[in-house]
Amino acid sequence: MPASPPARSEVESLQAYSAPLEGRRGLLRLDFNENTVGPSPRVVEAIRAIPADHYAIYPEYDGLREAVLASLADMAGAVVAAPPATVPVPPVGAAIRTDGVPAPVTGSLSQQPARRPCLRIEQVGLFNGVDAAIHALFQAYGAPGDRLLTTSPTFGYYTPCALMQGMVIEAIPYRMPGFAFPFEEILAALTTPPAEADGSWCPPRLLLLCNPNNPTGTRLAPEAVLALAAAAPHTLVVVDELYEAFTGDSVLPLLLAPGGKQDPEGTAGADPFAAYPNLLVLRSLSKTAGIAGLRIGFAIGAAAVVDRVSRVTGPYDINSFAVTAAFAALADQAYVDTYVAEVLAARQWLVERLVAAGVRHHVDGGNYLLIWPQRPAAEVDQALREAGILVRSMAGKPLIDGSLRVSLGTLEQMGRFWEAFALCDARPV
Ligand SMILES: Cc1ncc(COP(=O)(O)O)c(C=O)c1O
Repeated sequence: MPASPPARSEVESLQAYSAPLEGRRGLLRLDFNENTVGPSPRVVEAIRAIPADHYAIYPEYDGLREAVLASLADMAGAVVAAPPATVPVPPVGAAIRTDGVPAPVTGSLSQQPARRPCLRIEQVGLFNGVDAAIHALFQAYGAPGDRLLTTSPTFGYYTPCALMQGMVIEAIPYRMPGFAFPFEEILAALTTPPAEADGSWCPPRLLLLCNPNNPTGTRLAPEAVLALAAAAPHTLVVVDELYEAFTGDSVLPLLLAPGGKQDPEGTAGADPFAAYPNLLVLRSLSKTAGIAGLRIGFAIGAAAVVDRVSRVTGPYDINSFAVTAAFAALADQAYVDTYVAEVLAARQWLVERLVAAGVRHHVDGGNYLLIWPQRPAAEVDQALREAGILVRSMAGKPLIDGSLRVSLGTLEQMGRFWEAFALCDARPV
């Protein structure tokens, strides 16, 4: 029998990134960190109103980048009220603050002095979800033998993307106890050749920072992200801010504030990424706006980087439904803010129960936490599933083997989870 032709050797040895996506409808889904209540009614209305001829033709993207810019500008103008990141920022350079709180900037963009840096549409890339942006940036920047520097454990999709390019992965573990960010180790791996290195040592090609980190929730102060980018000008530093809405730890408010390092003169309309041309920020509407199934994500950075990453995608990769939904979701920030506030309240409620019941857990940034059941995690996972609740087993993951990652939803949903968990893990409610 003739055999099928082999794929590239990197692909032949690749394990496909698979997630347990099937059969989730109708259950309480605390397994993918999605928004648990769905999108804003305005998004639903906008999708219902789409005429058939709108999807008979290829999608149009005009205006969506502007809408993203407007929404980022509004966010950068908002007071950042999140508590400080728990990860202390090591004193690397005088410009780095140590409390992890983004520079407080108040009022909307229109009320700010004109001397504010300003993103241009060429600095926003549109992708079919952030996963597609991640895939594309590896394709654009990762060559065989190049190094990916990242942390461990972290979001699982970085690994196959690096391996399919033939890259070498250096994953630095979070510091125990407490899953603290290994700042010094990352900085050293970025800037210092190992003792045994010969003259051909190069800095890593890519640094992937997930902030806050999925699944440990570890928060890294945005000033520390900028410090790493400044220390490694030959490395593309990618900060995956998928869950920043739950903490406010984003580099964008810092970059968009007037008079920062990127623009000490406070020049009106200066490029916010001028001092960080090697930094790329990833954002998505999956986890907060409730449109994970429509697939839309953004990459924001220097125009040259956004251009290179966009070169390796197709011209119509984002479908018309996603475009319409994204416009409507970006226009209803109040809906997202209300949902985030509800999740944070529910988190506090659940954490109080976990503490009172003596359940080992770890909670930090993001809309999720880790729980170590007293019974084997696989059994509790299965028992919860039978009770109609899905969580994600972290079996086999370094540092967190034996834990379950539980996405946070509304108070009512956390109440249901807690009742079922207490029963499955034989805990007093
Ligand atoms: C850290 C992180 N980055 C990226 C993604 C992918 O997001 P999207 O739905 O925008 O593709 C996820 C989804 O779970 C995630 O947790």
